[in-house]
Amino acid sequence: MEICRSKSEMRRATATMRAGGAQRIGFVPTMGALHEGHLGLVRLARSQCDRVVVSVFVNPTQFEDPSDLEKYPRDDARDMDLLRAEGVDAVLLPAVEEMYPPGAQTIVETTGLSRVLIGALRPGHFRGVATVVTKLFNIVGPDAAFFGEKDYQQLAVIRTMVRDLDMPVEVFGHPIVREPDGLAMSSRNVRLLPEHRVEAPVLSRALERAEAMAAAAPVTIDELRADIALTLAEAPSAEVDAIDIQDAQTLGDLDGPLDRPAVILLAVRFGAILLIDNRVVSPV
Ligand code: PAF
Repeated sequence: MEICRSKSEMRRATATMRAGGAQRIGFVPTMGALHEGHLGLVRLARSQCDRVVVSVFVNPTQFEDPSDLEKYPRDDARDMDLLRAEGVDAVLLPAVEEMYPPGAQTIVETTGLSRVLIGALRPGHFRGVATVVTKLFNIVGPDAAFFGEKDYQQLAVIRTMVRDLDMPVEVFGHPIVREPDGLAMSSRNVRLLPEHRVEAPVLSRALERAEAMAAAAPVTIDELRADIALTLAEAPSAEVDAIDIQDAQTLGDLDGPLDRPAVILLAVRFGAILLIDNRVVSPV
């Protein structure tokens, strides 16, 4: 497995892959602190492509809170071991100065999608994501790229950006990977206090109940939201930032009876840690 710390090393590595006959290069962008969710993306990439490249870069421009950036878990040595064991061909592991040389001033933004929902709670977040993913695509030059569906809005932002800017990259989503108790895997989970970790599966419980409710009988958006709020209240430490129920395709607002597939997007804080989870529910 080749570890590339500079953009030029990475470009050379993918050029060598193509010169050696690689037909399809798959790319998995990550911020490290890898878990089974990321490894699922790597395996999906491997099943679709003949070479797999992963990036490990904690992107400062998508953090609006400097202490969140500082505390983001990092363990490059462990990450490299995990990726080597998965048979990854090359890793891009750049320093911040390599990705953002002084004077950088160009940004990429999906102007509608990036300002609603999580984007309204975390201004600038999706602009940072879209900008770094564009840069990573330009450096790696992949044919396909793989993202987790846990970050539902992020995936929508990336699909929209790829479409709008005619990027020659096929985007794949991978279903959420969960702990045995239902908690969606996230690099943030390790930072939960033990008492919060016990309560955190309340997000997936709330989504399961809402899905069952929608499948059992006709239901309104307000009834679904009320049921979710009731379940989340079972966790005394949970501070609910958002229970958004949106059109699953467009992320537009919904009201009245549930009459089309909707995505429920939860953002719930446990102490300083913001957890997100989602599920698409359909009417009976
Ligand atoms: O999902 C993530 O880990 C990040 O947002 C991404 C896509 C690697 C961009 O920094």
